[in-house]
Amino acid sequence: MTNKITAGLIGHPVGHSKSPLIHKYWLQKYGIEGDYVALDTMPETLGERISWLRNSGFAGFNVTVPHKQSVMKLCDSLDETSRQIGAVNTVCIDGEGFLSGRNTDVFGFTENIREQVRDFSFESGTAVVLGAGGAARAVVHGLLGEGVPEIVIANRTPEKAHELAAGSIDPDRINICSWDDKSACLQGAALLVNTTSAGMAGMPALDMELEPYLPRNCVVNDIVYAPLMTELLVNARALGNPVVTGIGMLLHQARPAFEAWFGVMPEVTSELKEKVL
Ligand code: ATR
Repeated sequence: MTNKITAGLIGHPVGHSKSPLIHKYWLQKYGIEGDYVALDTMPETLGERISWLRNSGFAGFNVTVPHKQSVMKLCDSLDETSRQIGAVNTVCIDGEGFLSGRNTDVFGFTENIREQVRDFSFESGTAVVLGAGGAARAVVHGLLGEGVPEIVIANRTPEKAHELAAGSIDPDRINICSWDDKSACLQGAALLVNTTSAGMAGMPALDMELEPYLPRNCVVNDIVYAPLMTELLVNARALGNPVVTGIGMLLHQARPAFEAWFGVMPEVTSELKEKVL
């Protein structure tokens, strides 16, 4: 028996995932004897895979598409954030094989904004959120938790935006705007976050008119990170707005998971960012 600590990633597919690179970088940087392995897991073998992880002495694992919801019922406990947003991305396994699920995407989102715009105050004004999928759920939860006074959600399918708002911790602070009016919603906004896949490499562009609506001091964040500078960010930067790229959310969400398994809260360095990009 060695003292080597092992964690993993379950999802399908997992081949494209940056998580092994991130965790292995930190293991090496902090001189920890450990490993992080990607384990392609089909939905029909999820239960089997989790029993195997539990019996093989894993410290825990990350969870990605398509298991973020289905893994919840296999956990013995869930933290408040994962329960609220209905998705687990990190699981810890203790010595007794007890599985505790949590969600660190919310932390990743807020920490990324904090890191990239040092003087930004979440309480300073309205946040406009584009999209109402799983990522938007984490973003909205994070924004409400940080004290954003109002959130305006615009989603191509408006029913999903209404559902997201109704299931949040404070529906009264959320208004829904139609997808066609999303540009006009930017007036008076302090933060714009794109959580849709529009603008991602290989996907249709995000049709968003920033002029004349976007206030000059509005922070613009795209959680898409391939490409790093999406058309939205390129256009916002050209207007002189502060922009926040999406790669930091991926890097910061990995920090609490690494800490839980390996015992060190790691740092996001520019060297790590370069490696991942
Ligand atoms: P994720 O977990 O990344 O949020 P998701 O739950 O599948 O993924 O959500 C994708 C989001 O991107 C949704 O808000 C989706 O809009 P719909 O609810 O109308 O499907 C949005 N989206 C995807 N492609 C889009 C496009 N081409 N234009 C606008 N919105 C798009």
